[in-house]
Amino acid sequence: MKGTKSYLSKTVEELKPSGIRRFFDLAAGMEGVISLGVGEPDFITPWSVREAAILSLEQGYTSYTANAGLMELREEIADYMQKSFGVSYSPQNEIIVTVGASQALDISLRAILDPGDEVIVVEPSFVSYVPLVTLAGGVPVQVQTLKENGFKILPEQLENAITGRTKAIMLCSPNNPTGTMLSGDELNAIAQIAEKYDLLVLSDEIYAELAYDDEYTSFAAIREMKKRTILISGFSKGFAMTGWRLGFVCAPEEISQAMLKIHQYAMMCAPTMAQFAALEALKTGRSDVEVMKKSYKRRRNYFVQSLNELGLTCHMPGGAFYAFPSIESTGLSSEEFAEKLLLEEKVAVVPGNIFGESGEGHVRCSYATSMELLQEAIKRISHFIKQNQKA
Ligand SMILES: Cc1ncc(COP(=O)(O)O)c(C=O)c1O
Repeated sequence: MKGTKSYLSKTVEELKPSGIRRFFDLAAGMEGVISLGVGEPDFITPWSVREAAILSLEQGYTSYTANAGLMELREEIADYMQKSFGVSYSPQNEIIVTVGASQALDISLRAILDPGDEVIVVEPSFVSYVPLVTLAGGVPVQVQTLKENGFKILPEQLENAITGRTKAIMLCSPNNPTGTMLSGDELNAIAQIAEKYDLLVLSDEIYAELAYDDEYTSFAAIREMKKRTILISGFSKGFAMTGWRLGFVCAPEEISQAMLKIHQYAMMCAPTMAQFAALEALKTGRSDVEVMKKSYKRRRNYFVQSLNELGLTCHMPGGAFYAFPSIESTGLSSEEFAEKLLLEEKVAVVPGNIFGESGEGHVRCSYATSMELLQEAIKRISHFIKQNQKA
């Protein structure tokens, strides 16, 4: 059926495919590539967690759960949020178990946006934010952070971006791709602005378990903020469970119940065996998380220091497992750097411009890979830099 008419929605047609995929495809066709490209743990999900999923299958738990998720899991999430972050949520009507943090982000935005509503996206940002705002009918307003400020948003920058149509601010701390973590004081400054302009804050806290040096503050724990926070989290990163597709979202009842309607119609519920796995992860998996975290921290220290020694200046990321070094000393654009490094040295990194304009001049490297491979990657990057000295 070949005609001139396109059956596709204009919004979808105009959506750019994720820039990360192009580099994955390029790297997939090559042998001996060290990938610092993927944003996921190199650990396998702890055995006790896998075993709980197997047991749930053996016991025949193969049907749908409640739309919002197993009550036992929601209770455990409520307990975890209280004990770890000091925020209390009702398992009955303020928590929804989702298909990864990804679906939590989607239903959050779809529940709150009317066409034309603006959402402030602090960039460099996770690649999904801007497209998800657009798909929900909203208008993303990107605010660029600077490396001089450690990629932290300044309160005046935030305030300048607010208009009469602003509905929400999207935050991610620790951040993908920069690893930047905001302190309690910095979050407090954002909270004051949210209050002043009566805005919601979507706080993506998927990397909360991976905060290395400082105490982690949840945005919802800041005074008076729980009522205007949609807290997005999940098991993918901290618990090494990316493939299980399990996340959750906590929000005030009115918003939660609106999100639940979308979730009911679009998804029904998150996968049942993954929910049993997540339940076990919260009950017994915390010591495994500590072990993984210690290992990431060791690798972070080595990798970031090595990048700096090579002249690829990089701030010390406070959390997540990404380093975001400047490649400006090479005179290459971030796309050129990533492509040449892959072709010449077989090291895959992600160009920073994929995460927004302010990411240009940087590349994202995931250090969630073995120490041996990180050492080899540094050798190769060092060779690459020598070969590509600025003329
Ligand atoms: C900041 C951020 N939010 C959300 C997600 C999605 O996580 P999930 O696997 O739980 O859907 C990712 C994955 O890379 C991420 O980096």
